[in-house]
Amino acid sequence: MTEAARSAVLEVRGLRRSYTGVAGPDLHILRGVDLTLDRGEAVAIVGASGSGKSTLLHLLGALDRPTAGTVLLDGIDIGTLGDEEAAAIRNKRLGFVFQFHHLLLDFTALENVMVPALIQGESVAGARKQASALLDEVGLGDRIGHKPGELSGGEQQRVAVARALVNRPLVILADEPTGNLDTDTSEQVQDTLFALRDRYGVALVVVTHNRQLAARAERVLRLGLGVLEDV
Ligand SMILES: Nc1ncnc2c1ncn2[C@@H]1O[C@H](COP(=O)(O)OP(=O)(O)O)[C@@H](O)[C@H]1O
Ligand SMILES: [Mg+2]
Repeated sequence: MTEAARSAVLEVRGLRRSYTGVAGPDLHILRGVDLTLDRGEAVAIVGASGSGKSTLLHLLGALDRPTAGTVLLDGIDIGTLGDEEAAAIRNKRLGFVFQFHHLLLDFTALENVMVPALIQGESVAGARKQASALLDEVGLGDRIGHKPGELSGGEQQRVAVARALVNRPLVILADEPTGNLDTDTSEQVQDTLFALRDRYGVALVVVTHNRQLAARAERVLRLGLGVLEDV
């Protein structure tokens, strides 16, 4: 095995995803996507609305199964796993940040960040310690007892980032993480994402329309006509 292959956390080869046409021909959304992501590397994915960016992230996150091709996460072909195995890999190896925070509304910030650690088998005390340390790191150490409805949009997203990181994943997949935020708040969330990337060496795949966010990544790729190309 080459050095490059050993350091890759994500290896995507010939990835295709088609949807069966209901009243017309099949939709070929992804037509052969290739992507190699190294440990700790940040890649931004841009592309027109409807080009398949979310479809691609769902496949990278084992939330969907490819029509053809492979997604190797740390050498494991996650496109062929059963539902339970996929859920286990998602919880342990992957972190997700979406445009809308998807936090549990009846839980505090602390509890929201603890949940993936508890699912992973961490003790309540251990999960609390890790979650509280991460919330400190994202600048919300004084808000841990607040529920999502008591936090601003940017604060909610920073809780979501802390939650994505609590199990020390290999990759964080972020789909328009600042799409719902104003400029200043967006910058804070970007700072948080990249500071944690630098500290923990987690790789980042960020789908974004935000040029400033895309420019922070080591590589910017454009999804168009079903394939990824360098920008
Ligand atoms: N479950 C589905 N069934 C049929 N078509 C879908 C489905 N999900 C997404 N699509 C289509 O796939 C295309 C890409 O969608 P999406 O990945 O959400 O694009 P993006 O995130 O780049 O805006 C769109 O044309 C969308 O309508
Ligand atoms: Mg999308």
